[in-house]
Amino acid sequence: MDTARAEQFVTRMSTLMNEGMLSVLVSMGHELGLFDILDGMPTSTSEKIATASGLTERYVREWLGGMVTGGIVEYEDGKYRLPPEHARVLTRAAGADNFAAFVHSTALLTDRRHEVLDAFRRGGGVPYDRYDEFMQVWAGLNADKFERALLDQLPQAIPNIDDKLVAGIDVLEIGCGEGHATNVMAAAYPNSRFVGFDLREKAIEEASRNARDMGATNVEFQVRDLANLDSAANWDLITGFDVIHDQAKPREVLGIVRQSLRPAGTFLMVDINAHSDVGENLTHPAGPFLYGTSLLHCMTVSLAYDGEGLGAVWGEQKARELLAEAGFTNIDVTQLEGDPLNAFYVARV
Ligand SMILES: C[S@@+](CC[C@H](N)C(=O)[O-])C[C@H]1O[C@@H](n2cnc3c(N)ncnc32)[C@H](O)[C@@H]1O
Repeated sequence: MDTARAEQFVTRMSTLMNEGMLSVLVSMGHELGLFDILDGMPTSTSEKIATASGLTERYVREWLGGMVTGGIVEYEDGKYRLPPEHARVLTRAAGADNFAAFVHSTALLTDRRHEVLDAFRRGGGVPYDRYDEFMQVWAGLNADKFERALLDQLPQAIPNIDDKLVAGIDVLEIGCGEGHATNVMAAAYPNSRFVGFDLREKAIEEASRNARDMGATNVEFQVRDLANLDSAANWDLITGFDVIHDQAKPREVLGIVRQSLRPAGTFLMVDINAHSDVGENLTHPAGPFLYGTSLLHCMTVSLAYDGEGLGAVWGEQKARELLAEAGFTNIDVTQLEGDPLNAFYVARV
């Protein structure tokens, strides 16, 4: 027994106990809009903060106690202040940089813990329709990300793609969800035709509504199961953002993607940047977050449909193996500046 090591681990677990509760409080603060209110206020009493947010003062004060002792909010002489250096990653105005929204997504996943615990014991998984709220939160985060970065990232990931999209090509997005990426691209490239497929009816309704609101005429969304697509070679570019690792049948879907591309076509797969061997992920900046999100969502949704259960951390080595098995011979993987969590796979035949 290494006593120093044992003591260090007790300190680590005590930190975890505090941070774990702090993350619950951050999630609640996000849901209640408290960070957004605090961001606009000078140093204030809990009464003023409660009045401004329309919430009960006693609850707000207890929550502030957690925020102050957790180092998120400052406290002096009975008054509280959210420093701007903290607000910039905790408020809705922060968009895709809002860590409170990521923390909130974790809290939403723990709402499903009893079903996942049941799956530990009996096998199977938890299907997509149990994750409506979680998918909404992720769609919002992805929308901010796509709006901000996708159009800059595409030409970096696929040389010459900008010219082709400007001239006019056929683009399919698989697992498009609420369609934010497809709509952003359709607005930027009016001569190209965009189609998005997803299983979830509600997501497709929202994607279509957004396209109508934008007045886009070169985009269309359809409820389709990727595992049952016809594989006519109709597409110049197929994109899949965060979608292959969720699939029940990822090998079949990749095979269909490959057959659906025209001869000079490209598949752009954006997926989690990780190694397939957990031992190589020890210093990954988001290891527990990714394995946990996978366990409570990505892996279990695949297993719910009797699937392969790749999980979000399937990693580059496994991804290359499956892409090659589907018939892609030319696979480039890049990490784009400012996006450490994702890898961009550009696959050609
Ligand atoms: C993690 S979400 C990503 C959504 C979107 N691409 C984004 O980045 O915001 C995965 C999406 O894949 C869809 N999906 C999973 N399996 C599918 C299948 N077999 N056919 C069609 N869509 C599927 C889900 O409904 C979900 O919208």
